[in-house]
Amino acid sequence: GKVAVLMGGKSAEREVSLMSGAGVLKALQSRGVNAHAFDPAQRDIGELKRKGFKRCFIALHGRFGEDGTVQGALELLGIPYTGSGVMASSVSIDKVMTKRIWIAEGVPTPRYQLLRRGAFDREKVRAIPDELGLPLIVKPAREGSSIGVAKVQGYSEIQAAVEAAAALDSDILCEQFVAGDEVTCPVLGTGDSARALPVIRIVAPEGNYDYQNKYFTDDTKYLVPCGLPEGEEAAIQELVVKAYRVLGCRGWGRIDVMIDGATRKPYLLEINTSPGMTGHSLVPMSARAAGISYEELCLQLLASAAL
Ligand code: DAL
Ligand code: MG
Repeated sequence: GKVAVLMGGKSAEREVSLMSGAGVLKALQSRGVNAHAFDPAQRDIGELKRKGFKRCFIALHGRFGEDGTVQGALELLGIPYTGSGVMASSVSIDKVMTKRIWIAEGVPTPRYQLLRRGAFDREKVRAIPDELGLPLIVKPAREGSSIGVAKVQGYSEIQAAVEAAAALDSDILCEQFVAGDEVTCPVLGTGDSARALPVIRIVAPEGNYDYQNKYFTDDTKYLVPCGLPEGEEAAIQELVVKAYRVLGCRGWGRIDVMIDGATRKPYLLEINTSPGMTGHSLVPMSARAAGISYEELCLQLLASAAL
């Protein structure tokens, strides 16, 4: 039957999604799947049913795509889709809700404070480094691809960082900075069958893995095999599978982790339930190291589409 690759959407990651979707569409078509692009920002999602689409590959990122909203619409339409269901998607898009669950389940994540737009003043913002130390990270709670993320080095920078994040989201996450190794690890499967792919270590210019260094420069180095000390990769794989399961994720995901350079303790930052599939993206890179081609990965994910 006909397959829709959902791409584009109306989040700040629209451009990234168009790149992911183009890759997925080409891969599925190259393997004989009757796949078509579908942008829910430009068409009524009900058309999926009226035009006879039987399954959806979700290549949307961010809000209105990765956050349970599109998943809910597809549930109502009765069209199976790739990736997590409504609840896991909506919890996972929110870095603060994710942390609350991880903390309750004993999954290590950096300390944080939540600010709500309209409910903080300069004094409150200025007190945050006293709790979290410096540098610290400020992020919109529900964005991706490092959009709106700032590393705050001193008291003079924090107000502007919080305001910039507040322009993108009503919830602003201030997070302890973990200095050390930046790694990421994909998970494939569901429940007891969920398993981790190889860990990738990311070495970005000046440690700055921002939007530009994620998608548009070739200056970021990706190490897979990751070259971490003996035992660390397996420990991270075990931890991310647990973190994925406790959120109730399905199909696939990718968890971003910082390893404290001094203590070697891993801290989980967030989970992406609709990870990037661009030419620079990490899940395809890790899958390739495990002997799974980009095309094979797309077919496997499509086969896991469910309601
Ligand atoms: N949010 C981007 C797409 C990623 O995590 O890959
Ligand atoms: Mg993300």
